Order: sequence, then structure tokens, then C-alpha cells
Amino acid sequence: MRDLSIESFTDNVINSIGPKTPPRVREVMTALIRHLHDFAREVNLTTGEWLLGVEVLNRTGRMSDEKRNEMILMSDVVGLESLVDALDHRSQGQETESAVLGPFYRENAPKLPLGATVVQGGKPGESVLVNGRVASSDGTPIAGAVIDVWETAPNGLYEQQDPDQPDMNLRGRFETAADGSYAFRCVRPVSYPVPFDGPAGELLRLMDRHAFRPAHLHMIVSAPGHQTLVTQIFDRTDKYLDSDAVFAVKDSLVVDFKPAREGMGTKYVVDHDIRLKAEPARHRSAA
Ligand code: BEZ
Ligand code: FE
Repeated sequence: MRDLSIESFTDNVINSIGPKTPPRVREVMTALIRHLHDFAREVNLTTGEWLLGVEVLNRTGRMSDEKRNEMILMSDVVGLESLVDALDHRSQGQETESAVLGPFYRENAPKLPLGATVVQGGKPGESVLVNGRVASSDGTPIAGAVIDVWETAPNGLYEQQDPDQPDMNLRGRFETAADGSYAFRCVRPVSYPVPFDGPAGELLRLMDRHAFRPAHLHMIVSAPGHQTLVTQIFDRTDKYLDSDAVFAVKDSLVVDFKPAREGMGTKYVVDHDIRLKAEPARHRSAA
């Protein structure tokens, strides 16, 4: 039956999904089609607006490559990456909260000894010592956990965005000591705008929003037997904490950059303990 009435049209599309479709695909596509159609009906979407949306998504895809992921940025400025992160990592209160990965992570950052700096060159910034302990959610210290950190230079650019910075500048991997402790040196992070010279920037301007993220440091913390944590820490004094362009700030991740004591060889100190969620034990079936 061909029923193109606006009310029953959606059911026709959903019912066209075939019997061999995997259950999760059916669940996701059914909801996606329903919400997309409801959206079009709610705003009375015109053909011109639909075509404009298609053109924006095409341009977003064409602009994405291994150095720049405009598609992720687009989903970030409408809050989707942060929402998915919140759904996928519901905090039980004991573990350190997660925050979005963002598009600037690079694998294989240099492995550095505890206490070393991630600064390899470029213009100097204000020095910070970040230190603390990595533990399991029950408080047991984790030796040999890996903390992979990255941040922008004081000019607000990640090294891959900035030809004046050395390769892998302001990136490093550190392994916790036997008592779970870690320490590294970096520069005090600054607030910076997400790239706004593409479709995501156009959308921000259309929605009368700024492009800034509050000053933050990214970390991925991993350890055997534990869930890998993708997170950030944010500077409590930053003026964009309540208007992060990508909606990633969580209260528990806001930290103090405390003035260091004389002789510490750094301007600020951040104390930040990290708790990882243990992976559920795997049961071996009896042979
Ligand atoms: C970042 O903090 O690196 C970032 C996160 C989401 C979008 C753009 C940048
Ligand atoms: Fe960032």
C-alpha cells in the first residue's frame, strides 16, 4: 500500500526494515527515522532548508581529514559528543568523571619519566606541576598506569595546528610509580577557540555563540584490569567554564592552579587524584 499521508508515512519507512537486520541496528534506525521525521514535521522543513542541510554536511565531510575532523566538531557544537560521553560513562560517584576526547588527540606521544615536562619548544608559558595518585575506585593504588596528556601552547593552538611548534610538543605519556603516584610539568592551559573557519564555525555564528573552550588539559588514563578513562581538567578561574563551546565541563573536573612554594621550580601546582573503574572480572567457564 502506498500511503504518503504525513502521519502514517513514518511507519511505512520503519516497516520497510527487513527481517535480517541486526536487533541493535533496527533499534537505532527506528528511533533515528522517527526523530528525524518528527523534527521535519515540527519545524515544517522546506525543500530549500533540507538541501541546505545536505550541502552543509557535504562540506563538513569534505573538510575532514587526519589533521582535522570537522564532523566531530559539528557534533561537538550541538552537544552530541558530550551527551554520548555522559550516557556511556554514567558516574557512580567513586571514579573520576570522563570528558570528551575532541579531535586533537595523537597516538604515540613521547614516553617521559615522572616529573618531566611536556614542553619541547615554542614560546614559553607559565609553568605548572600536575601531580597526584592513580587508584582503583576502592582506593587501591595502581602502579604502572599510563597517563597520556596533551594541551595547547599559550597561543591556543595544538602542535598539529601550528607549524611553529615542534612535532609532539605539549604531549607526553607517564607511568605511575609503585604507590600510584604521578607528576609531570606542563604550561598553564589557556582558553582557546575551537576551529571556526568551517561549517561548525558558521553554525556557531548563526546561533550567536562564541567558539571558546575554557582552559583545560586532556588526559587518557589506562591500566590493566580497569576501564580506560578519557578526561580533562579545567581551570577554576576561567571565564568560559559555564559556556564551553562543546559542553564538556563537569564540576568534579574543575581544579585549582595553586601558586607553588619557593624552590619548587614551577609557578603553579595542581593536585589531582584519579580513580579508575575496575573492569568486571571475567569468569572462565569450567572445562
Ligand atoms: C578539544 O578540547 O581539544 C576539543 C574538543 C571538542 C572540540 C574541539 C576541540
Ligand atoms: Fe582541547
